[in-house]
Amino acid sequence: MNKGKGSLILVNGDHGYRGGEEDLVRFPGTEILLEKETAKRLHDLLSTLPEGELVLVSGYRTFGEQVKIFEDSVKENGMEFTKKYVAKPGCSEHQTGLAVDLGKAAEDIDFICPSFPYEGVCQTFRERAADYGFVERYEKDKEEITGISAEQWHFRYVGRPHAWIIKEKGFALEEYIAYIRQFDDAGNPLRFRYFGNEYEIYFRPDKGKGAFEAEFKSGNPVFDAGKQQRLTISGNNVDGFIITREIQPK
Ligand code: DAL
Ligand code: ZN
Repeated sequence: MNKGKGSLILVNGDHGYRGGEEDLVRFPGTEILLEKETAKRLHDLLSTLPEGELVLVSGYRTFGEQVKIFEDSVKENGMEFTKKYVAKPGCSEHQTGLAVDLGKAAEDIDFICPSFPYEGVCQTFRERAADYGFVERYEKDKEEITGISAEQWHFRYVGRPHAWIIKEKGFALEEYIAYIRQFDDAGNPLRFRYFGNEYEIYFRPDKGKGAFEAEFKSGNPVFDAGKQQRLTISGNNVDGFIITREIQPK
C-alpha cells in the first residue's frame, strides 16, 4: 500500500502527486477520463438530475496536459490569474482522476472557469454531491488554506462517509486530513453515524512496509464477515493512511 494512493489523498501546492497507477475509465458519452469509482458515483449523481443541463468540462489530466493548460493560461491570462485557478503541474487533483470540473450547459463554456452558479440545477448537484462522495474542493473562505481561488465548478471525489463529515464540519480537505490525524485504532477512532450507517475512522502513520500491508493484502476494501465490518484504506499523500471501518447493520 502506497500512501500516495486512494480516494483521500491530499494533493495541493505543498503535496505533489506522483501517480501513474490510476484506474481510469471514459465517462459515458464524453471523451473525459476519470478514476473508475469517481466516474461511477458521478454517473449515479448526474442520473438524478435533468439530462443535458450539466456538462463535464475537465476530468483526468496527464502531467503534460497540466503543463500545457498552465502555460496556455499564463500566455492568455497572465501569471497572477493562472496561479489562482490552475494548479502547478505535478500538484493538480486532476492528475489523480478524482477531480471533475462541471459547467452549466451553454454554447460557450470557459475551460478554466466554467459557470456553475449557486442556483438551479448546479445548486441541486452541489446539495446532492456529498451523498455520492463528492466535495466542492475550493471554497471562498478556504482560499488561504487551499492556495486556490474559489472554484464553484471543481468537485473532488473523497467517498462516503468522508464527504458527509467534510460537509458537516465545513472543512477544506487540508483541514480534514489534519483533523483525522488525532484519531487512532487504540480505542480512539472517529465515530460517525449517518442514517443508520455507522463508521469508525482512524489514522495510521506510515512506518514503511510491514504488517500493515498484510492486513490489506486481500484487497481494498476488506470485508470481515465475522465482525460484520468492511475496512477501506487510503493513503493521505502526506504521512500515513486513513482507515475507514464500516460497521454493517446487524
Ligand atoms: N483548477 C485546479 C486548481 C487545477 O488546476 O487542478
Ligand atoms: Zn478543476
